[in-house]
Amino acid sequence: MPIMKGHRIPEVTPELLISELEIRERVEEIATQINLEFEGKAPLVLIGVLKGAFILLADLSRRLTISHSVEFVAISSYGKQDTDAGEIKLRLDLSDDIEGRHVIIVEDILDTGNTLKYLISMLEARNPASLSTCVLVQKQGRAPIDVPVDYLGFEVPDVWLVGYGLDFAEQHRTLPYIGIVRPNAD
Ligand code: IMP
Ligand code: MG
Repeated sequence: MPIMKGHRIPEVTPELLISELEIRERVEEIATQINLEFEGKAPLVLIGVLKGAFILLADLSRRLTISHSVEFVAISSYGKQDTDAGEIKLRLDLSDDIEGRHVIIVEDILDTGNTLKYLISMLEARNPASLSTCVLVQKQGRAPIDVPVDYLGFEVPDVWLVGYGLDFAEQHRTLPYIGIVRPNAD
C-alpha cells in the first residue's frame, strides 16, 4: 500500500503463539528453579544478551528472591543468518569480572546456536564458578550447533517470532505476548 500523507502505514498484528499469562507462569517456574538451585551459592550474576533478552531478564530478575546482580553483553553477527557460518563480534562487554561467580546467560532465542556457543566459550575462559544458560524460546528442528540449555521457556516452530523482546526489523519488541510475523506481511 502506498504511504499517504497523514495516514499511518497499516500494521499487521502478529498472530498469537504464546500468551502473556503463559510467559508469566513459565518465567515464575524458572525463577523458582533458579532460586532453589542457587540458594546459598552467591554470588550469582545474570547476563542478558542485548537487545532481545532485556524483557526476560527484567522479569526473571524481579522474580528471583536470592541475591544477584545483572550484566549485559551485546553481540552482532555477520554473514548468512540462517547457517552456522556467520561471524560473531562482541559489541558490548561486561562491566565487571565474573571469576568465581555463578553465571546464568539469559538469551531470547536459540536458532542456529551460534550466539550462545560464542558466549559460552568467551565466558568460560573467564573462570566463573559455574555457567548456565536460560533461553526464552528454542526453535524446533534448528540449533545444528549443540549448545546446552539449562532453563528453557518454550519450544517453538521454525518461524519468525516477535514480542517479549524479540523483534522484526526493530518492530514488535514490546508486545506482551510472543507472536508470529510473516516477513513480507508488513
Ligand atoms: P542464533 O542463530 O541461535 O545465533 O540466533 C541469532 C539471533 O537471531 C538471536 O539471538 C535473535 O536475536 C535472532 N533471531 C533468530 N530467530 C529469531 C526470531 O524468530 N525472531 C527474532 N529474532 C530472532
Ligand atoms: Mg538474541
